Amino acid sequence: METGNRMAGKVAIVTGGASGIGAETARVFAAQGATVVLCDINAELGESIANEINENGGAATFRSLEVTDEAQWIALVADTEKAFGKIDVLTNIAGISGRDPRQNVQTTLTAGGLLEDQSLENWNQVMAINATGTFLGTKHVIAAMRRAGGGSIVNISSICGIIGSFSNAAYHASKGAVRIFSKSAAIQYASDKIRVNSVHPGFVDTPMTEPGHANPEVAQQRLDATPLGRFGVPHDIAMGCLFLASDESAWVTGTELIIDGGMTAN
Ligand SMILES: NC(=O)c1ccc[n+]([C@@H]2O[C@H](COP(=O)([O-])OP(=O)(O)OC[C@H]3O[C@@H](n4cnc5c(N)ncnc54)[C@H](O)[C@@H]3O)[C@@H](O)[C@H]2O)c1
Repeated sequence: METGNRMAGKVAIVTGGASGIGAETARVFAAQGATVVLCDINAELGESIANEINENGGAATFRSLEVTDEAQWIALVADTEKAFGKIDVLTNIAGISGRDPRQNVQTTLTAGGLLEDQSLENWNQVMAINATGTFLGTKHVIAAMRRAGGGSIVNISSICGIIGSFSNAAYHASKGAVRIFSKSAAIQYASDKIRVNSVHPGFVDTPMTEPGHANPEVAQQRLDATPLGRFGVPHDIAMGCLFLASDESAWVTGTELIIDGGMTAN
């Protein structure tokens, strides 16, 4: 991992930090000098990523967080300020696809079914974690960032927050909510020097996409639709988060950064 000073002196909360894009973003932030508070519901994996970062000379602590639980957000913000003096960066990365967790290999070309077959329970869960979780995190870091003199909030949406597809309407809706919520938040808090942007990954190889990519037909169809000819890796997305979290993007707010190998340009 390349090291540097692009996040020197910054305190960054990273949700979804136990796996995939969140874990890599935590690694990249720490390698660039940030103190990282890595949060997830998966404590075992989260602890292991934090330990790995510390063993490699970075600064990370793990914190259990269920992103839909408002009281846990309030406690996380208070404890982070107490421990590290401030909060400069929040990356809302925790998310779910909403597919059946028992499905190891996707049997159809698209993940999930038609919306008339989608249960209200599944809809509510996807919206709660992906959209409401992002709202709660953003809401509760605002005051702390104001005390810090400003900050950067990076919300992970998806290309699914920009375009529709044949399936998983709840996921699309939740990621669309993240996209437009980020713009509203950006406008509301620009005068406090708090920037809010969204990141829109295409298909990235992580545990979330494993069942789809385990089916060669699905994988090939997605690759064929990706002009750069490969799936993303978590590092591709983490580098976009790094730009938006660092002061290099000081004049960037309310924007959407698509990192998808060219898929949505087509
Ligand atoms: N992988 C992709 O192709 C892709 C594409 C577009 C967007 N995304 C988005 O990127 C983000 C990260 O996804 P990933 O691919 O790294 O998946 P992942 O499954 O590897 O990681 C998601 C993490 O979020 C955590 N999490 C889930 N629910 C949570 C909750 N209620 N509270 C706290 N933590 C919770 C999980 O434990 C896991 O560690 C998600 O928001 C996802 O929607 C991923």
